[in-house]
Amino acid sequence: MKKSALQIARASYQPKLPISLTGPVIAVEGAPTQSVADQEEIKKLFPNTYGLPELHFERNPNPGVGKPINVGVILSGGQAPGGHNVISGLFDGIKKINRDSRLYGFLMGPGGLVDHNYKELTADIIDEYRNTGGFDIIGSGRTKLETKEQFDKGLEILKKLDIKALVIIGGDDSNTNAAVLAEYYKEIGADVQVIGCPKTIDGDLKNDVVEASFGFDTATKTYSELIGNIQRDCYSAKKYWHFIKLMGRSASHIALECALQTQPNVCIISEEVEAKNMNLQDVVNYVADIVAERAARGCNFGTVLIPEGLIEFIPAMKNLIAELNDLLAKNPEVAKLPADEQRQFVIDNLCEANSRAYASLPVGVARQLTLDRDPHGNVQVSLIETEKLLSEMVAVRLEEKRKEGSYNGKFSALHHFFGYEGRCAAPSNFDADYCYALGYNAACLIAAGVTGYISSLRNLTRPSVQWLAGGVPITMMFNMERRNGKIKPVIQKALVNLNDTPFRRFAAKRDDWAINTSYVFPGPIQYFGPSEVCDQPTLTLHYEQFDK
Ligand code: FBP
Repeated sequence: MKKSALQIARASYQPKLPISLTGPVIAVEGAPTQSVADQEEIKKLFPNTYGLPELHFERNPNPGVGKPINVGVILSGGQAPGGHNVISGLFDGIKKINRDSRLYGFLMGPGGLVDHNYKELTADIIDEYRNTGGFDIIGSGRTKLETKEQFDKGLEILKKLDIKALVIIGGDDSNTNAAVLAEYYKEIGADVQVIGCPKTIDGDLKNDVVEASFGFDTATKTYSELIGNIQRDCYSAKKYWHFIKLMGRSASHIALECALQTQPNVCIISEEVEAKNMNLQDVVNYVADIVAERAARGCNFGTVLIPEGLIEFIPAMKNLIAELNDLLAKNPEVAKLPADEQRQFVIDNLCEANSRAYASLPVGVARQLTLDRDPHGNVQVSLIETEKLLSEMVAVRLEEKRKEGSYNGKFSALHHFFGYEGRCAAPSNFDADYCYALGYNAACLIAAGVTGYISSLRNLTRPSVQWLAGGVPITMMFNMERRNGKIKPVIQKALVNLNDTPFRRFAAKRDDWAINTSYVFPGPIQYFGPSEVCDQPTLTLHYEQFDK
């Protein structure tokens, strides 16, 4: 493939490791750990991997010679900038242990392990992918590693290739499954270590021991650049309202970070909508009031950021979707009815509250709710065009306000969805360093002989050389939750916490940003240049660490 000038220049970027990882390391054990909740149940479920100590790495003054080790690596779930650097860091780390170590990549996600699809990752392959975006070095997939059959099938190929450690790069679910796999392999004496790495642009795999998931930094900077560009256009032309949906399947961290970066007129935070028990009309009224207020000041333009997961956080919509799922599962023939008959059937057969909610939706959106279902029969909420839904409903509300005499402006809406635009961007310096260090650190965890740990770097707002490298038992992040009808041990998903500083900072400013045009234009990610331009972490991370 032809390389761009930036790709060529960027290939020689040498990610900066924490100082403790720049020579031979020694693992220092901390105190034994326990899970964040439900300790007794989780201890029973993980008798071999529960309660292990946290580890951190220090320089080793008396290093021995490490033995060669074969390691497997899997990319799991959605793409996130920096995945290739995790793999190159891991490669360099195991080669540092012993130059005869080998790295095998399982192809297209966890399914590659189960189906025995793999390729050896050699130096020439790795060098092609250093500091690049994407997951294409081995591909990713969403197969969940959950069953004993899958684990046993995977073990066959691990044994065949003499792989002694498996690194799973994924989000909360994939790391949950990594812990289950580690426990199982330990229980049966498989002699395979399992190490996790925190990945997801959504930013919802974070807690007291994992400060950030990789990819969030680059993705939010990419979206913020685009939002800034739109705001400049919007401020120049002064004639459009831009409704911008931002990825993030559930949590609103991406929308919040982009709002902090760009200071839009409106940003909806799903977690707040749920906490305030707002219905869709409440959200619409909130936006319409701002549009009207700005119109009164002669500003018939603006920007509205909408998190992808919004619809599922609106209690009334959640109920409607749940009943619709059941109704359509019981009556599959309805999917084939002409649109108007289908609409009538749904309205006639839902309970009164849901029927009213359904009938009040714009026809196109209501139809989307009945059409696009995943293989499990659920509505694919990410396919619902929330940005259009909101703008259509805002337009209706504005006409009502016009009749009431409280609006006298022009409303012309444009729509955008930013998601895939950022997931494979070339990693920012932060993500390039963070990912490389996560992979290198995973190699150190392997050398330390542990299993069921997640690669962890802390102190992330400091320069990367000062980061603290170590490992945390994955069970430490567990609690028991209901998932797909069963109570299971899982890593707690981090939603936006309305009491934390990032949200409070936003909430303190948003009324000002709504009325007074206060746009910020962050511009594109810079890879070369002054540190204050190139190396800044996200505002979310900054506020979480420095401004509690
Ligand atoms: P992960 O949680 O697996 O990292 O993926 C997150 C995400 O990018 C979400 O933001 C988005 O809703 C989803 O993946 C899209 O999935 P797909 O890539 O299957 O379209």
